[in-house]
Amino acid sequence: MGAAGMRILLAPLAEFTDAPFRRLCAEGGADMTYTEMVSAAALFHGHRPTRHLMETMPGEGRVACQLFGADEEEMAFAAREADALRDGGRPRFCELNLNAGCPMPRIMRSGAGARLAADPERVYRLLKAMVGSTSLPVTLKTRLGPHTGDNRIFELADAAERAGACGLIVHARYTSQMHGGPVHLEVLSELVTRTRLKVVGNGSILDETDVAAMEQTGVDAVMVGRAALRDPAVFARLKRAKPPFGPPEAVERHLRYLVEFRRALAERFPEDAVLDEDAFISLKARTHLFRYFAGVPGAAALRKRFNAVRTLAETRELLAAAFSVTGG
Ligand SMILES: Cc1cc2nc3c(=O)[nH]c(=O)nc-3n(C[C@H](O)[C@H](O)[C@H](O)COP(=O)(O)O)c2cc1C
Repeated sequence: MGAAGMRILLAPLAEFTDAPFRRLCAEGGADMTYTEMVSAAALFHGHRPTRHLMETMPGEGRVACQLFGADEEEMAFAAREADALRDGGRPRFCELNLNAGCPMPRIMRSGAGARLAADPERVYRLLKAMVGSTSLPVTLKTRLGPHTGDNRIFELADAAERAGACGLIVHARYTSQMHGGPVHLEVLSELVTRTRLKVVGNGSILDETDVAAMEQTGVDAVMVGRAALRDPAVFARLKRAKPPFGPPEAVERHLRYLVEFRRALAERFPEDAVLDEDAFISLKARTHLFRYFAGVPGAAALRKRFNAVRTLAETRELLAAAFSVTGG
């Protein structure tokens, strides 16, 4: 089977994979998408803005909710909350996922994220708490272990299986590698022969050759993160399908969905402080939209201009100017 037959999922990316971007990636060929990581502790303690991360919008397709935490009671609570969300009477999410791979010090200090990749027993307890609190499928997203020479993935897979999880997403790097260095496909190959769980492979997939190499390991699907940030139609490309849109159309849609989503958020959560349209859009322009121009001549100067926009109108003007400069 070639890359054309492989399921390709959008990875959870904190600050990026909100509803508008997930919708864009679904339109760009992603078979399924993940929310940004949502703090179980914050949900447990009633932090209202955290709930905004669990909002979806029409047209998104299949979405999974990723939770992070280190406490069983909090994870059970968060799983129940995510499980209870409905859109038109149907469950909002198709899967709940536990983050056991985030290497950010703040997250690891709390005992969550990649700290769990060194603690299969705690992963077992957290997953079991989730599985007992939802009827949705539960999966684990993790790394190979804390560092080369300390490979925990087989124990982690065993813990997930015992806890009743139904799948594993493996970023085939060690925590010490952060997001760079070699992706260890040989470990993935061994893993798929040793676990009964479905395995999704992840790590630096940029082109069809990378998908084919990952597919060789025997994984059930692959997951793409950073490559989607500047090209949300990368999923179609990786499946050798015609991309449904190019960069100017991607930005135009992205902007439209951001405006739509912010309005819906403000309507749904009238008691919460939701940024006004200009603040919301210019924040996204500074943090995300500029990425569509990464690598083009003059990108550094463009980045500065993106940092200076403060309104939706200025953002629109800058995008139009940027495409005329880059010829997109
Ligand atoms: C900016 C950024 C944010 C991320 N946020 C999350 C997250 O919220 N949850 C998670 O499990 N992984 C997160 N990751 C890791 C990605 O999901 C993915 O495992 C990693 O980027 C490797 O895939 P890639 O090489 O295709 O980007 C993040 C990575 C980046 C670069």
